[in-house]
Amino acid sequence: MISAYEFSLRRKNLFEKIDDNSITILFSGVAKKSSADEDYPFLANRNFYYLTNIEQENSIYVLIKSDGLMKEFLFIQPRDELKEKWTGRRLTIEEATNLSGIENVLIVDSFDSKLDLILNRREKIYGDIKTLYLDFDGEQKISKDKDIDDFSYGLKNNYPYLNIKDVYQSIIELRMVKSQAEIDEFIEAITKTNIGLKKIMKTLKPNLYEYQLAALFFYTIQDYDFAPLSFPTIAASGKNATCLHYTSLKSKLNNDDLILFDLGGKNNGYCADISRTYPVSGKFSPLQKKIYSIVLGCNKYIISKIRPGITLKELNNLTIEFLANECLKEGLIKEKEDIKKYYFHSISHHIGLDTHDPSLREKPLEKGNIISCEPGLYFEEYGIGVRIEDDILVTEEGSYNLSGNIIKEVDDIEKAMKYSEF
Ligand code: GLY
Ligand code: MN
Ligand code: MN
Repeated sequence: MISAYEFSLRRKNLFEKIDDNSITILFSGVAKKSSADEDYPFLANRNFYYLTNIEQENSIYVLIKSDGLMKEFLFIQPRDELKEKWTGRRLTIEEATNLSGIENVLIVDSFDSKLDLILNRREKIYGDIKTLYLDFDGEQKISKDKDIDDFSYGLKNNYPYLNIKDVYQSIIELRMVKSQAEIDEFIEAITKTNIGLKKIMKTLKPNLYEYQLAALFFYTIQDYDFAPLSFPTIAASGKNATCLHYTSLKSKLNNDDLILFDLGGKNNGYCADISRTYPVSGKFSPLQKKIYSIVLGCNKYIISKIRPGITLKELNNLTIEFLANECLKEGLIKEKEDIKKYYFHSISHHIGLDTHDPSLREKPLEKGNIISCEPGLYFEEYGIGVRIEDDILVTEEGSYNLSGNIIKEVDDIEKAMKYSEF
């Protein structure tokens, strides 16, 4: 568990980044409606959560920087005997203080009436305005104006003098560098994921269905430690694995197929993101082994290149080069250019409270970043898709593979499956 002290430190770090005589307002949000009287599961805005440790709807964090002094408030929902009978216990003021380290905790109903006082003619106001959109190549597109307009619409009406700014980038710059406590959370998330994958290897056999293995993974990590999933599990056999985010899970496993798993367990909000590819029969065919070995070689090669100073784009260029050369050598493609048909995603993204953690993708890596390393090859004509994904910590000298314990060598996988329970 990350301490309230560390959450306070994060807010102090944000305080250092923002302009003086400003006010920052962040919202946890509310659950989205899914149907008549049902909501989608609630997850507090991750930037709000990162700073407060509060995972409750209708909560607001206010940070005031005034002549270099820091003042902060947290607004939460009031206790409500009737509502709590339906949707569970709400935090008390004291619990909210203990979780967040924020002394001034108020009831959210008073927020509107306090807003005048809080603004107090301070002209600069920061909101968490999502400005960064990643396109398919992982390039950033800035679409600032529309979002600022959306955020500021109401405020500008009542407070026309306000200068509205975006705090999003300052927060994600903090989120990109993980503390030791965050690294420990990751290690635990990966341990749980490994337990689930071991169970899958023991159970895997022809004629099961993809959904049974996805369910087994979920059951195993829940049974171990009530771990939620980082994202919906991908269990894609044969040709299904050539669809990157295949989630239908309805196919029966064929003896001669590979099955690709892309999955992860969460630990206190931190998301493991691991991919492994196994032969359904317990043994790779020569062609499967050839393709698998290229991807594995690439996975290890790129891990060896991860270090402070390199960018994700440079890592992706190295990936394309490696895969193209190896596929050419093995006669899997005729021209280097053809690799685009068989490898068409990106090698990496930052990981954290979000599986695809928000980041500045062009920023060179630095110590404390945690990123995925996930090369893949997808040959629809052979019904073979392979992805091998590890979670890598950037260290001072290079990198450390946090998921290094999750087996991925051909021999190790075949051995583990040979001693299956069936
Ligand atoms: N699980 C999604 C990804 O690997 O990026
Ligand atoms: Mn990933
Ligand atoms: Mn993944």
